[in-house]
Amino acid sequence: MGSEKKVILEARHLWKSYGKGEARVDALADVSLEIYEGELLTILGSSGSGKSTLLNSLGGMDKPDKGAIFISETDLCKMNDNALTDYRKRNIGFVFQSFNLIAELTAKENVGLTACRPEMVEQVFDMVGLKHKMNNYPSQLSGGQQQRISIARALAKDPKILLCDEPTGALDYETGKQILVELEKLVRQHGRTVVIVTHTQEIGKMSDRVIKMRNGKITQVVVNDSPVPAASIEW
Ligand SMILES: Nc1ncnc2c1ncn2[C@@H]1O[C@H](COP(=O)(O)OP(=O)(O)OP(=O)(O)O)[C@@H](O)[C@H]1O
Ligand SMILES: [Mg+2]
Repeated sequence: MGSEKKVILEARHLWKSYGKGEARVDALADVSLEIYEGELLTILGSSGSGKSTLLNSLGGMDKPDKGAIFISETDLCKMNDNALTDYRKRNIGFVFQSFNLIAELTAKENVGLTACRPEMVEQVFDMVGLKHKMNNYPSQLSGGQQQRISIARALAKDPKILLCDEPTGALDYETGKQILVELEKLVRQHGRTVVIVTHTQEIGKMSDRVIKMRNGKITQVVVNDSPVPAASIEW
């Protein structure tokens, strides 16, 4: 990326804790970061380090206890529910760690619900290799297939910022790699901003930056000046 990087999302001093007294956990302990328009960012960290909490906060799904998240000039943390819903609708695509598909709708209907254009629906099913499962319900799909439907849904929405929580977590190696190639295309060919949360260190190699988290804190930010194509990384 050039030096004229534009900040698309900025988090300042985020705090979020769960539980009380001895059982208290600081899921986010003073986390600040900037996300640049058109970058591929990886957030790495072991289980429980606060990655999902951070991603949910950035996507307006979860409210931190303290701190601010700016998109343009507006602070997400100060928005009411309607404004947040509107923000998510216009800007954010989310691939949830737990898929979050609607059980009563077929795969095609799940994706169609938030697709930006109806013709996108078939196209994204092709991208994730599940055209033959479009009319199945989530309960008729494996975990990995549900994961891919959830990715298809996010792709069809064509959001400015795509937040992906362990997008390859439930997938076999080859399918995981295909998905990473699609995410990479969104950034490199279509100028979208993609954030990938993962345990897999190798995924950092395809990213412009890697943020490492531990115990609710960012411990390291690594800028990668020569990202490797997703197709050639191995793990
Ligand atoms: N709803 C909740 N209630 C209580 N504690 C929670 C809740 N959500 C998260 N936590 C705690 O906050 C910490 C951070 O959790 P988080 O889900 O953000 O971690 P993570 O990095 O996404 O982990 P994983 O890689 O396993 O998905 C953990 O210690 C977790 O137990
Ligand atoms: Mg998580």
